[in-house]
Amino acid sequence: MEKKKIVAILLVLAMMLTFTACTGGKETPAAEGGDAPTYKVAMEPTFPPFDTIDEETQELAGFDVDLMNAIAEDQGFKLEWVNMGFDGLIPALEAGNIDIIASGMNASEERREKVDFSTTYYDSGLVVAVKAGNTDIKSIDDLTPDMKVGGQIGTTGADLATELFETGKIGEAKIYNGLDVAIMDLQNGAIAALINDLPVTKSYMDSKPGAIEIVGDVLNAEAYGFAVKKGNTELLDKINAGMQNMIDNGTFDEIYKKWFE
Ligand code: ARG
Repeated sequence: MEKKKIVAILLVLAMMLTFTACTGGKETPAAEGGDAPTYKVAMEPTFPPFDTIDEETQELAGFDVDLMNAIAEDQGFKLEWVNMGFDGLIPALEAGNIDIIASGMNASEERREKVDFSTTYYDSGLVVAVKAGNTDIKSIDDLTPDMKVGGQIGTTGADLATELFETGKIGEAKIYNGLDVAIMDLQNGAIAALINDLPVTKSYMDSKPGAIEIVGDVLNAEAYGFAVKKGNTELLDKINAGMQNMIDNGTFDEIYKKWFE
């Protein structure tokens, strides 16, 4: 074989070895601080234990926060958490002002027309709560046209309270920005009942025993999902893959135990 060809082959081999040495033969995983994408994720923080504010750190906290943070780490992206009114979440997603909603949001058919939901991660439902000791209201059927019933703005609870008002079953649907204020009004008698999610109502009951109680059956079964802008399949696939990994490796159960047991 001519000397020139041998030299040329040796030069090519030397160049290939040099290239491999520079790049280590693999991309730097984004999760290790490479050019990891950052997504803006929003929640409304009066919804414990899913979405709340840590009393000590004043940081956003909750089941949704821990689960979404775990998914982000698993999938090699970063998160910027923001809080906003619950009714503003879907419009913000549609406008591209945020990338993800992680806010105990029921993946309803109506909402699926506007946004795309991840695999659902928590089965819930609505309940009626009253001030402890109330003997007039034993279920939703005992609500009367002289009563005011609360719900949080933009939520399925508010939708049901509004439906009861529009059908003449109650005198007023009182809509609140924050559930914390709604709970206070329930305790002080400004409203006769509050329609809210079962696990969150239980959380408020646990934090102040003897203040409010749940009456009747669970209404309107729900399933919470993380939401992304309609058509953003790349991000949705990452969230679903990360969620499955968290279920498979036991992280989901650890986060569940932290917030519910
Ligand atoms: N699950 C109900 C809904 O999807 C209430 C969600 C309220 N979430 C919150 N972070 N405030 O409408």
